[in-house]
Amino acid sequence: MKNIKKKIAIARGDGIGPEVVAEGIKIMKILENFSDYHFEFIETPLGGQVLKDTGTNLPQKSFDQMKNSDAILFGAVGLPDLPLGAAESAISKIRQGLDLYVNLRPIKLYDSLRDKCPLKEEYIQNGINMTIIRENTEGLYAKIGAEVSKDSVINKMIYTRKSVERIIKFGFEYAEKKGHSEIISVDKANLLECSQFWRNIFQDIGKNYKNIKQKNFFIDSFCQWLIREPYSVQTVVTENMFGDIISDEAAYLIGSLGMAASGNICPGKVSMYEPIHGSAPDIAGKGIANPIGTILSVKLMMEESFGDKIYGNLIEKAIELSLELGRTIDILPKNDLRKGKLKTLTTNGMGDLISQHFQTFLKK
Ligand code: IPM
Ligand code: MG
Repeated sequence: MKNIKKKIAIARGDGIGPEVVAEGIKIMKILENFSDYHFEFIETPLGGQVLKDTGTNLPQKSFDQMKNSDAILFGAVGLPDLPLGAAESAISKIRQGLDLYVNLRPIKLYDSLRDKCPLKEEYIQNGINMTIIRENTEGLYAKIGAEVSKDSVINKMIYTRKSVERIIKFGFEYAEKKGHSEIISVDKANLLECSQFWRNIFQDIGKNYKNIKQKNFFIDSFCQWLIREPYSVQTVVTENMFGDIISDEAAYLIGSLGMAASGNICPGKVSMYEPIHGSAPDIAGKGIANPIGTILSVKLMMEESFGDKIYGNLIEKAIELSLELGRTIDILPKNDLRKGKLKTLTTNGMGDLISQHFQTFLKK
């Protein structure tokens, strides 16, 4: 009897999006075979190709179906022959349209990938395991009131008390839930009024969380801290653009952008899960993209949308075991002795290997 029914909107998108999403679905189908979950997958086309075909990057029907689903699995959007931003704005339309105000980005270096971290051992120490919490609906990226003329252009950075408060509260609650001893807020309060507003709210809300150590960093200094003491970073909370930037930097510390997952979350409501990488048109269709960021996004969906830790942990265990056996090229060691022992895998091969291990765990 399948008594946990979930409607999952599938937004494959462009470039490597469809290739990696297929591997995420593979994991969910295995879970369905060995658990009480029943997933109904609903295709919700969007992105650059859809823009070319229909004149919009996010058809109303796709948006409505996403809105009526229990969760969304998203690949990537963007095509090189379209104007910059033409496809990508579909993402912000969903983030804003569904009020997905939390962008949750866990960054974890798996032991077997330590040699893929670009930092020396002394900067890795006990490992890297942090979560970046990025405000996802305001700031510069909300693109409210942009003014473009021939000789000048204005983008407005807007923060509202409501949005800053809710994301910072989420950050503190997340840190508390994970047992983190410290939270870092990133801003540019030495220059920007928006950041001073943010910092004041962070300090106010922080008074309710006396057991969590609170640090403020300016964005430039935090970019340095990320490569200087990444092992000490636990929860980070920051505004939209800063979060966008530091999460790519952090993702490379765990071996590849292809390893990082994210959740665009509205707590208690429909949320969207996606790898943090883009559509990577240069490698699209070659079958070499790393599907782990997407598979970890499924893990995040299980945890954050369905409150299910057990299966999420098993997905992660299956990934860790698989990394010891074979990998996509982005995470193969360059000059390591193990190179010969690790199989070079395609996107599909990596997904199959993880699925096999996941299935073995589920059968136990
Ligand atoms: C991300 C991406 C997007 C963003 C782009 C594709 C619009 O870089 O999710 O980090 O900037 O939010
Ligand atoms: Mg980004």
